[in-house]
Amino acid sequence: MRACVIAVLLQLLLSDSQAMQCREVAGQLRQIDVSVGQVFGTKSDDTVLTLYGDCWIPLPGSLKHVTVGPSGVWGVDSTNVIFKLVNGKWVEVPGQLKQIDAGGDQFIAGVSTVELIYCLGKEATVGYKGPGSPTTWQGLLGTIKYYSCGPLGCWGVNAADDIFVRKGVSPQQCQGTGDWQQVDGKLSMIEVGSEGSVYGVNAAGDVLRRDGINSSNPAGTGWTLISECGKSNHVSFDLGHLWVITNDNRILDCS
Ligand SMILES: *[C@@H]1O[C@H](CO)[C@@H](O)[C@H](O)[C@H]1NC(C)=O
Repeated sequence: MRACVIAVLLQLLLSDSQAMQCREVAGQLRQIDVSVGQVFGTKSDDTVLTLYGDCWIPLPGSLKHVTVGPSGVWGVDSTNVIFKLVNGKWVEVPGQLKQIDAGGDQFIAGVSTVELIYCLGKEATVGYKGPGSPTTWQGLLGTIKYYSCGPLGCWGVNAADDIFVRKGVSPQQCQGTGDWQQVDGKLSMIEVGSEGSVYGVNAAGDVLRRDGINSSNPAGTGWTLISECGKSNHVSFDLGHLWVITNDNRILDCS
């Protein structure tokens, strides 16, 4: 069964070369994650899909959150059980998380139902192939409701929508170095792209981009509203494309 994409050009803002152009992609998703050239998402009935060419291909299993990155494809189900895609099948991973992110440099990270933060280093993620593979979760101090990692650091938002960045993360030291640095602003979810860019959505549904991020200043300098996206629930960024789930679950591909 395949649902193929019919692209609809939503906005052509030819007068402003800085503006993003968004096209609507056929289908509906609740959550999306894009990285290393791949696109995965979940629907509100927990169906898992991946975009292959112009077609959404359903995967076996059901997940409430899926993530793709340098350490593979991972997800969590409605009971917070963790899975990794191994040889085309979901294999269970010890631990429980409500949200998970594979955007870090071959490590994964996520948050539990009580918003404690955990990460798993490269030696455990890349080689994980099922029960018996070592899984040494590292706990981080603090509470965070949504956590996402990239090459220059990990970003999280807490229950009050405060925003924090964690620097010095590496394949062997997924917990990073030093303490949390609070960043100005409020967001309800945040995602770090493969090359380190940071996008988020606030409680009002506005999509914001963090500007001025580089290796000497991983926290960046300020937020810019991406007004072309309209009111949204979820974003993910990879290879110059911002993927947006609108507040009515439509899918936009903006670049
Ligand atoms: C990094 O960004 C800061 C501002 O955020 C800027 O002052 C600095 O020159 C940049 N450094 C590099 C190496 O690009």
